[in-house]
Formats: sequence, C-alpha cells, structure tokens
Amino acid sequence: MYPAAPVAETRELEGLEEAALRDIAAAASSDELEAARVAHAGRRSRLAAILASIGSLPAERRGEVGKAANATRRAIEAAIDERRTAIEADELGSQLVADRTDVTLPGDPHPLGALHPVHQIRREVEEIFLALGYEIVDGPEIETAYHNFTALNTPEGHPARSLTDTLFVEGHPDRLLRTQTSPVQIRVLERRDPPVYIIAPGTVYRRDEVDATHTPMFHQVEGLAVDEGLSMAHLKGTLQHLVRELIGDREVRLHPDFFPFTEPSVQVQVRWEDRSGASRWLELLGAGMVDPNVLTACGVDPERWSGFAFGVGLDRLAMVRHGVPDLRLFVENDLRFLEQFA
Ligand code: DAH
Repeated sequence: MYPAAPVAETRELEGLEEAALRDIAAAASSDELEAARVAHAGRRSRLAAILASIGSLPAERRGEVGKAANATRRAIEAAIDERRTAIEADELGSQLVADRTDVTLPGDPHPLGALHPVHQIRREVEEIFLALGYEIVDGPEIETAYHNFTALNTPEGHPARSLTDTLFVEGHPDRLLRTQTSPVQIRVLERRDPPVYIIAPGTVYRRDEVDATHTPMFHQVEGLAVDEGLSMAHLKGTLQHLVRELIGDREVRLHPDFFPFTEPSVQVQVRWEDRSGASRWLELLGAGMVDPNVLTACGVDPERWSGFAFGVGLDRLAMVRHGVPDLRLFVENDLRFLEQFA
C-alpha cells in the first residue's frame, strides 16, 4: 500500500505555510509582523478561505483537509507569537538604549543667591552689638509725627519737619514715612524702664533728590544706651569698637555737631584715605548724649539716668567699607555689581 497521493489542498497548504513562515521570519518590526499576519492568516487570506470551504467538501475528504488546514494555521500562529516576543524584546531594548539618561551631561545652571551688601553690613553690625549685650528691636516705618519729631525734641515749626524733606501720608498730617530710626528710641523708652541697650536697624525715607550720595530711601541703625553713669567716654569707646570691627583699626574722633535730641551732639569721623590716596576725616555717623528733654518725654528721670545714642547710615557704611563711589549702585541691582559682594 502506498500512501494516498496528497490532494491539491494539502499541497497548496504546504506552500502557504512555507511562504508565511518565510515572511514572518523576515518581519523586522511589529508593523511588518502584523502585515504578514494579515496576509497569511487574516480574514481575507487564502488560508481563511480554505478553512471556510471545509464544510462544503465531500464528506470523505473533510477530515484530511481540515486536519492539514488547522495544522497550517497553528504553525503560522505559533511562528507569529514567537516572532512577536522576539521583536518586542528588541524594540524594548532599543527604546531603553535611546531613552537612557546621559549622566555626564552638564546640569541646568541654578545660580545661588547671596545677601545684598547693605544687608550684609546690617548683619555684621547686629553681630557686633549682640556681642556687647545689646538687643535688636524694630519700629514702624509709617510713624507718627510725635515719635519721629516732637518727642525727639523737634517741636512743630522746626525746619527738620519741613515738607521739603519729609514724606507725609496723604490726608494724615500726623503720619509720615520715618525720616530716621531715632523714633525707635522713643518707642522703647515709653515701654521699658532703664537700663536699656538696644539697636534698631531699618529703612528710612526722605524727599531727597537722587545723586551719588543721596537716595529717597536708605537704611540706618539706631543705637541707644540708657543706664546709670553713662558718659561720652562710653559712647566713644563703643563707636571706636564698631569701627574697628567693621573697617579695621582706624583713628576715630568726635567732632561737635548738632542734633535736637542729643546734648552735646557729635559727628563721628574716621580717618580715611580717598581714592587719590589723600588722608582726611570722613563723617560716619551722628551721636550724642541723650537730651534730658527726651528722657522726660518718655517718663525717664534724667536726674538718675543718662544715656548715649547714635544713628549710622548702613548704605554709607557699605560705601566706606567697600570703597564704592556711588550710592545708586546699591539700588540699581545690576548683578555684575552685586556679585562682587557674594
Ligand atoms: N537721626 C539722625 C539722622 O538721621 C542720626 C542721629 C544723630 C541719630 C544723633 C542719633 C543721634 O541717635 O544721637 O541724621
């Protein structure tokens, strides 16, 4: 007995399977594989037509053709599954390679901030006085005319109150942007009994024209010491210490001056070499012994207590400290300037 000669469908199925396996093996991507699946095993493929025709074959051939066609279908599907697994692994691999983070690339620049030079000086002054046992206190920038002037022995009609150099709050003739930090002296003495040792750093305002040494807003530190037996010697020693800590060992002298709230009043000058190298006295700050009228206005007995006070411009100190010729540089916020102090 010879095996029955293969019928036409069986031979054709062998050809279909061979062509399908070849295309599947050659598919290089998910898309190409899908195209091969549609062509060889899709609803419109020749294989699908053969499978659909089985039912209409003569009964004695259905078994043979059906078995062969299903074997071909399983072989094609198995080949597609296997190929798909391989292609997906490849594609994942190349995506991982493409997406890999290059840790050697330079980072995004993220510049660090730094304190403004005037703020740096403020912190240094605070440190110096904290070390001497002083306390740091704050006062309002919108002040009453009473605290800013009257209680500081600067009565109504005094030229310092003039509209030309003071910024009043519209509609409130008794409210103004403080022209000095001195009103903090009053606020402290109103609340507390001596002994008092405080400094009060902050912003002050004046209706100044802008030039190299004037801006309408600037910064001061007020100092106030009230105790038993304080004298000009204590004032001078304290300020000499401040200057030594901030700008080095320089000669300091007290030059007579006038302020309404101190008696006597002095201007503290420091030996300074200007840019041409010439040595001269430079005014650094105002100071003096607290006027008895100020103590009395705050309910402090001037027979028992005495004190000294001083007010120094922080912007001025920063200028002197760094040799900056123009105050406006501090408010222009040009990073090329500011970075030099970072
Ligand atoms: N407040 C004064 C000003 O702005 C500076 C000053 C002078 C403050 C003498 C004082 C002082 O405490 O005693 O010009």
